[in-house]
Amino acid sequence: MKKPLIVANWKLYVTDLESAVISAKAVARAAGKTGADLVICPPTPFISNVAKAVGGKGIAVGAQASSVAEGEKHTGETTAEMLRSAGASYVIVGHSERRAEGEDGEKIAVLLEDAVAHKLVSILCIGEKMRDQGGEHFAVLETQLRDGLSRLSSKDAKRLVVAYEPVWAIGKSAADAMDTRALEETILYIRKVLAELLGRAPALSAPILYGGSVEPANAQELMSAGVSGFLVGHASVEPSSLIAIAKASFTKSNNGTKKR
Ligand code: 13P
Repeated sequence: MKKPLIVANWKLYVTDLESAVISAKAVARAAGKTGADLVICPPTPFISNVAKAVGGKGIAVGAQASSVAEGEKHTGETTAEMLRSAGASYVIVGHSERRAEGEDGEKIAVLLEDAVAHKLVSILCIGEKMRDQGGEHFAVLETQLRDGLSRLSSKDAKRLVVAYEPVWAIGKSAADAMDTRALEETILYIRKVLAELLGRAPALSAPILYGGSVEPANAQELMSAGVSGFLVGHASVEPSSLIAIAKASFTKSNNGTKKR
């Protein structure tokens, strides 16, 4: 059984280096007892220190975004190469909060291609802004997958994680997260599209995470929809909450049998 993958997207919730390092160390102390693989994505300036704080403790560090820039004359950009050198091994690509600022399908495809070329595991975020009875949201997801993966070679698919984050469910509370049955249906749909785009084997092995108001209270229930883990925003900032989500995910993925 593969371990659940729990990715903490700290967004801009953590605004100073000292707090970032203290939280990362607290997560690192408890991570080994969760049964899950953990990734912390702090704000970019904290990546290097967070990587040192969790180094060797089985937690990976990721970036919330990267840029693609050829040559030196691009003031203010942070490339995948730099992120890797600072200690990141993951990167989030195409988060809805960045799509809202203008990242489109073509740009996301280029970012993903570049990130995997620099050996970063790339977490491609997809998700509809709203749902309707007519099922329009499935077409939105298919387009986002087709566009985002258009430059990914099948040999690089091993560095792909897909995060399904319905925009309407982000930043709320456990009661507002997605219904488990609807989530299960959506995960099956995403796997089907992945199989069409990448072939069966990569589609089956790519982890598919859910993100959108995951909290300790609903993590176990949401895992039963067949997700591989979670991309967690607000509830990932408090170390005890992140650890509780990781433990609940592990418990569910092992049918309630805690192997500890
Ligand atoms: P919340 O967990 O705060 O809903 O955020 C989800 C998210 O956007 C993670 O990338």
